Parts: sequence; structure tokens; C-alpha cells
Amino acid sequence: MDEKRDFLTLQDISSEEFHLIIDRAAAFKSGADASSCPLIGKSIGLLFDKTSTRTRISFQTGIYQLGAQPIYINSKELQLGRGETVEDTAKVISLYLHGIVIRTYEHNMIEKLAANSSIPIVNGLTDLHHPCQALADMLTIREQKGALKDIRLAYVGDGNNVANSLIEAALLTGIDLAIACPRGYDPDRRIYENALKKGAKVKLYTGPEEAVQDADAVYTDTWISMGQEREAARRKQIFKKFQLNKELLSLAKPDAIVMHCLPAHRGEEITSDVLDSPQSVVLDQAENRLHTQKALLEMLI
Ligand code: CP
Ligand code: NVA
Repeated sequence: MDEKRDFLTLQDISSEEFHLIIDRAAAFKSGADASSCPLIGKSIGLLFDKTSTRTRISFQTGIYQLGAQPIYINSKELQLGRGETVEDTAKVISLYLHGIVIRTYEHNMIEKLAANSSIPIVNGLTDLHHPCQALADMLTIREQKGALKDIRLAYVGDGNNVANSLIEAALLTGIDLAIACPRGYDPDRRIYENALKKGAKVKLYTGPEEAVQDADAVYTDTWISMGQEREAARRKQIFKKFQLNKELLSLAKPDAIVMHCLPAHRGEEITSDVLDSPQSVVLDQAENRLHTQKALLEMLI
């Protein structure tokens, strides 16, 4: 039997596999193969520790469309919450399921789960990475701009899980990524340095204006990620100058697209006029979660 494959970060796939996933997702989206059910008879668990609208519903729907059964599990209802170890849980659920999508806090938890399970583990977001989001984002940019290589993508705001995965996407695609974060809120240093070492075109800025200058796409995300609620007031102060508004967007190319993984906090990291403008592709990003995740699951499971 082939060794199982996990998708914990974008580093788990090659650039070639990345392009295969994006191409397959585009085919799913076009309606090609709509009736193929490659995962018929299988069961895939969705183990969620954090809330979700897009990830949960797009995976549930996509799994169903692939012919498999999605099983949503609120991890608080598992014996995990009463002290059963991650290792024991991983071994047991591997006996029933053919794959698990997990959304949790510490990235280390999914590494432990992956190390102790015999089935593929898919990261549906941790504090450190959001790789499924980046897959959908790359498909969206390719649809809108016709290419990925050398496209200038500016990311403005918190150097969080979404930013970290965009850095790894830059390495796979040759996208030219400009990131602007307040001092002390940069993306994960190890992820950034590793990507640079391997040849990614990623540059960090402290001013949002420099990053957005001449961008083909401008991306932002919440200033307060899940789990950071207690820091909300302080963060809103610190990030104020990084708001994606009309003035900042005017520095990008006139046909630049506006991106956000959603949920958006209108009037905080992005203004409503920008989020709802014709330049915004946020709903395409959300839709593409479905198609890219179907392609990913078909490859892994
Ligand atoms: N973008 C995203 O992951 O959305 P949800 O938190 O709603 O899943
Ligand atoms: N950075 C956000 C992304 C939500 C989809 C968070 O982790 O809450």
C-alpha cells in the first residue's frame, strides 16, 4: 500500500502537484466530471476546535460530491476533552475513517495527529497555517490574472496563518509577494526564512503603501484571529494604519483585485466600499474553496 499523504502545510506538496490540484479544481468548477465519485463508500471526519462557515460547509459539500460521507465532529464532544490522548485518538479514528480535516489552535497538535494516524490529515486551519485557503486564493488569482508567476500580490495587516500560507504559496507558484505588517506582527520567521532560502520572491515592508504600490492583487485578513479575542482592543489600535481602504487601494494597479479570506470585519481591516467594490473577488475565493479542496481530497485519499 502507498504511504499515506498529509496536507498540514503547502510544503507537503510539490509545485507540480500544486498545479495539478489547481487544474483539477478548475475542471471541477467548469462542471467536467461532475458525476465522478472517486471517494464512493469512504468516510471523512471533520474535527473542528474553532468555528467555521466556509471551511466546514465547503468540505462537507465537497466530500458529499466526491461520493464520500462527511462526519462533522466537534472535538469538545470527543473523549479528547476528558483527557484521552491525541495519540490514542489518532490511532482509533484511523480504524474508521479514510481521512480527517482538522481545524485547531496549535499546529503541533495536527503534527501529532498526523504522526499517529494511518490516514491522511488535512489542515483546515491552525494558528500557524491555512493552506486550504491559499489553494483557493491561487486559483482565484489565476482565474483573474491568467497566471501566477510574477503576479504582484500585496498582503497588508497581520502576519498570521493566512500570511504564512501565502508565503509558502509564493514558493510553489513564483508569485511576487509583498507583505506589510506592523513591527512585531510579521509572519512566522522560520516560514519566511525557509521560503526565501528556497527562492521564494517574498519581501517584508513596514509601510502598507510601499507593499501595495503597483500590486496586481491586494489581500488582507482580520486583525484578530480566532483565539486572540482578549487582545482585540490593543490590536485594533496597532493595525489602524494598515486598513485596506480606497486610498490605499488607489496605489495598486487600476485593475488590481481585492482579496480577503473572510470573515471580514467591515470598518476594521477593510472598508465596506472596498470589500463590495467590483474589484473584490472575495466570493470567488470562497467558492474556490469547494473546488480546490475536492481536487486535494481526490489526490490524497
Ligand atoms: N476563510 C475561512 O476559512 O472561513 P471560515 O473560518 O468560515 O471557515
Ligand atoms: N486569520 C483568521 C482566518 C480565519 C479564516 C483566523 O485564524 O481566525
